[in-house]
This record gives sequence, C-alpha cells and structure tokens, in this order.
Amino acid sequence: MADQFDVIFLGAGPGGYIGSIRAAQLGLKVACVEKDKTLGGTCVNVGCIPSKALLYSSELYEQTTHKFKKHGIEVEGVKLNLAAMLKRKDAVVRQNTTGVEFLYKKNKIEWVKGSAAFIGPKEVEVVDAEGNKRTLTAKHIVIATGSAPIELPFLKFDEKQVVSNVGALTFPEVPKKLVVIGGGVIGLELGSVWRRLGSEVTVVEFLPHLLGNMDDDLRKEAKKIFEKQGLKIKLGTKVVSGKADKKGVTLAVEKDGKQETLDADAVLVSIGRKPYTEGLNLDKAGVKLDEKGRVLIDDHFRTSVEGVYAIGDCVRGAMLAHKAEEEGVACAEIIAGQAGHVRYDTIPGIVYTWPEVGSVGITEQEAKEQGIEIKTAKLPFMSNPRARCNDDLEGFCKIIADKKNDRLLGVHIIGPWASELIAEAVSVMEFGGSAEDIGRTVHGHPTLSEIVKETALAVDKRALNS
Ligand code: FAD
Ligand code: NAI
Repeated sequence: MADQFDVIFLGAGPGGYIGSIRAAQLGLKVACVEKDKTLGGTCVNVGCIPSKALLYSSELYEQTTHKFKKHGIEVEGVKLNLAAMLKRKDAVVRQNTTGVEFLYKKNKIEWVKGSAAFIGPKEVEVVDAEGNKRTLTAKHIVIATGSAPIELPFLKFDEKQVVSNVGALTFPEVPKKLVVIGGGVIGLELGSVWRRLGSEVTVVEFLPHLLGNMDDDLRKEAKKIFEKQGLKIKLGTKVVSGKADKKGVTLAVEKDGKQETLDADAVLVSIGRKPYTEGLNLDKAGVKLDEKGRVLIDDHFRTSVEGVYAIGDCVRGAMLAHKAEEEGVACAEIIAGQAGHVRYDTIPGIVYTWPEVGSVGITEQEAKEQGIEIKTAKLPFMSNPRARCNDDLEGFCKIIADKKNDRLLGVHIIGPWASELIAEAVSVMEFGGSAEDIGRTVHGHPTLSEIVKETALAVDKRALNS
C-alpha cells in the first residue's frame, strides 16, 4: 500500500525545503524526498553556504596580510591553517543542514530518505541507500531536483585535479596554479578564494566580458578590480583541449586563432549548470521538458501533467537560491488554494567577491535594446564618507530610472557590502518607487547606504556630496 500525502516535494534544496515548510504551515500533510545524506540541497551542502564561509575566511586572511598595515595594525608571522579553515566551513554547513532537519521536525514534514522516481502521474517510488523501496502517492507532487555542473567533454571531473564547485570547496592544499574555466559567478567567487589563499589564478572566459549579462559598466569595473587584486583574466578565449595526468593539467586555449598552452595543478570548470532530472522517470509520468532540458512549466509552476509542479533550478529562470525559495512558497500557496506569485523582475543577483556585486532590474544595454528612454547616474564609493573611513574605496553605485516618470528600473552596485545595499533598491522597486523616493528617504550618516541615496539624487542632477 502506498503512503498517502497531500503534497510530496522531490528534493530538499532551497526550493523543496522552503516549499515543504510553507505547505506544512498551510495545514497540508507533507513528505519531502531527498537522496543525499543531509538536507539543504546544492545551496547548503556544496553551494551558497560553504562558498560564502570560505569567501569570508579568505577575505579575513587577505585583510590580515595585506590591509591591516594601513590601519596601523602590524601582525607578524601570519600563517594559513587551511585544514582549520575547511573544518570551520564544514561546521557552518552542518549548522545549516541540521537547522533544516530541525525545521522539518518542527513543521511535521516527513523526510523520506532515498531517490525518487515516478511510477505514475500521482505516484513515486523511493529507493534508499540500502535498496529498500517505498511507494508514496499524493494529489500534488512538486519536482525540485535542482541542477548539476556542466562538464567539458574532454575534461571529465575527478574532483581532485579537474573540479566542479564540489572539489573547489575541498582542495586539501592550496593549488600553486589554478585555472578557472568560465568567468561567471562561481569562477570569480571561488577563484578569489584560492587567489587570496596563495594560488596563481587564471580565469579563461570565452565571451569578451566577465559576469554574463550584468551591466556593462559593472562588468568592466569588476575586471579592472579583480586584475588589480592579481587574478589573470583571459577574455574572448576558448579552451580547445585538456589533459590531466600525474604532473597536473595541461590546457590548450585559443584567442583570435592563436593557440597557447596553460599548465595548472588544478582546473575549476565553472561554465554553468544544467537542470538535474536524471532518474526521475519523467516520461513515465508524462512530464515534458523544454528545449533546454528544463521541466516545462506554466506561470503557476504546473507541468504538462495535472497535479505535478516544478520549481527552482530545474525550471526556467535564474539559478539562484532565493528564486527557488520564492517559487517554493508560491507553489505551496497555489497548491493550498491561495494566489501564490513570484515577481521575477526584482530578483537581485549578487557576487560575493570583495568588493561585492549587487544588481537588480534592467541594465543600460537592456534599456537600449528594449527602446526604454532612461536617466542614469553613477557615483564612486570614493565619494562616500563611510567608505573612506573603512578604506573601502573601490567601485560605484549606478542607478537607472525611467526618463518619463523617474520609476526605478535598475540598480547596479560594485562595492563594499553591495550584497546588503541592494536590498533597499529591491524594496523600492517592489513598491514601484522612483529614484526621487530614495533621494528623499533619510539614510543614517555616515553609512555606505548613503551612496544609494546620493546616486538617486544624482539621477535628478542634485547630488549634495559629490
Ligand atoms: P538544489 O539545491 O540543487 O536541490 C535539489 C535537491 O534535490 C538536491 O539535494 C538533490 O540531491 C535532490 N534530488 C535530485 N534528484 C532527486 C531524486 N530523484 N530523488 C530525491 N532527491 C533528489 N545561489 C544564490 O542565490 N546565492 C549564492 O550565494 C549561491 N552560491 C552558489 C555557489 C555555488 C558554488 C553553487 C554551485 C551554487 C550557488 N547558488 C547560489 C545557486 C543555488 O545553490 C541554487 O540556485 C539552489 O540550490 C537551487 O535550489 P533547488 O532547490 O532548485 O535545487
Ligand atoms: P555562470 O553562468 O555564472 O558563468 C559561466 C561562465 O562560463 C559564463 O561567463 C560563460 O560565458 C562561460 N563559459 C561557458 N562555456 C565556456 C567555455 N567552454 N570556455 C570558457 N568559458 C565558458 O555559471 P557558473 O559560474 O558555473 O554558476 C552556475 C550557476 O550557479 C549560476 O547560474 C549562478 O546563478 C549560480 N551561482 C550563484 C552564485 C551567487 O548568487 N552568488 C554563486 C555561484 C553560483
């Protein structure tokens, strides 16, 4: 006999675990199937959380070795204890995975351990690590199985020399030379971690710019700053072949028809992620995929099969934890008969390097493409008193507003704590606010957030301090 639930989430990443909690809050009987030994998915186990733990630790190391002196702090004999740094990172991950487990108990969500596969449109079979089988049925099933790193056909992951995010979070020694293929978010974050800890890092990116479709001013500034920090960046460069052996990894790269060889102790391949639906038996249930292999959904997360939904990295849109979470909440609310909704144009994109990058809304190039008439302003952190106090002077804040009505359309920040500063812009955009709304809002002094206010004033050519 199959065990009966109101809703079953497949996968316990930010989409599945937050969706499960919301569904349970709304009074539904919830099961969540997770095949890994711990809850939390990519984000908690091998993504957001461990990478941010290492980014913080490695930045403290960099500050101690390179930045303290200017503040009059002289420290001698600073030593890296990588094992301790990695151990702390693992402890942070554990705090988070056990935190999710606690929330499951609190909300009476059943964690069904094992891999799920559809055996019918309303039924899944779960096989655990010992091969035990259990059948579950529910009126509503939500696919939240996430994504996996894309591999280069000629450079298979061994997670020691040729690594994805998984191996790049666990190198037991600092690689002398690290080549990062892909100048996107993972490449710049984890490339920065290992550079700070002593690696010679080369980033190879086949587009003529870093950071995908972010604002062009921001991409250029990021390149300038990261190069100054010591990252070697090769743009417009294609990796054509690669070979790993006992001595290391050798890559052949090509730019404008000219070939070059790069030697490395390790290579991080961070060229994007693909939706993960392997082993789910989607065809058995009749669930259709789109042209990019993502689970095809409508505006209400409904797949091609009634009662089956999909959210997070395995569907269209940005592969971000907060996007997956919002979809989990909205999907649970729709299942419970409420009007769940996600607003996609105010999802911030953040890069946790130092300085950080925080961006929301449209870029200047998108405004041009869409024929929207805009007003823009851009102010450097150099003009912000708090940034001067902290000696955190790199970067800028750029605001894009609608020329007709001043409505806030996009905010792009590269600078200290941009991850936190961007939240103000997200809120104002969420309420349909204008640049003037920010310009007339009191901001504490001296704070980094004053740069957002000053830039908003500058949109109307009335900045006071710059
Ligand atoms: P996932 O988190 O991938 O979870 C899916 C879960 O489903 C997994 O636990 C998997 O084991 C399980 N599963 C799959 N198939 C089955 C099956 N058949 N049966 C049972 N279980 C199954 N995003 C941010 O917003 N901020 C960041 O700072 C950030 N940093 C990142 C850093 C790195 C290095 C990486 C790789 C990603 C980062 N991301 C970040 C992206 C973020 O991790 C993902 O967007 C997010 O985890 C997606 O959530 P999800 O629930 O859709 O899928
Ligand atoms: P990405 O899409 O951010 O960057 C991949 C980069 O690799 C792109 O610039 C692309 O042009 C380049 N590329 C692709 N193929 C290439 C090739 N053959 N040779 C050279 N360059 C190539 O993907 P990334 O960094 O792998 O991250 C995956 C996902 O994880 C992203 O969607 C991101 O949203 C998410 N993530 C989010 C983080 C955050 O929010 N801070 C942190 C890390 C990951």
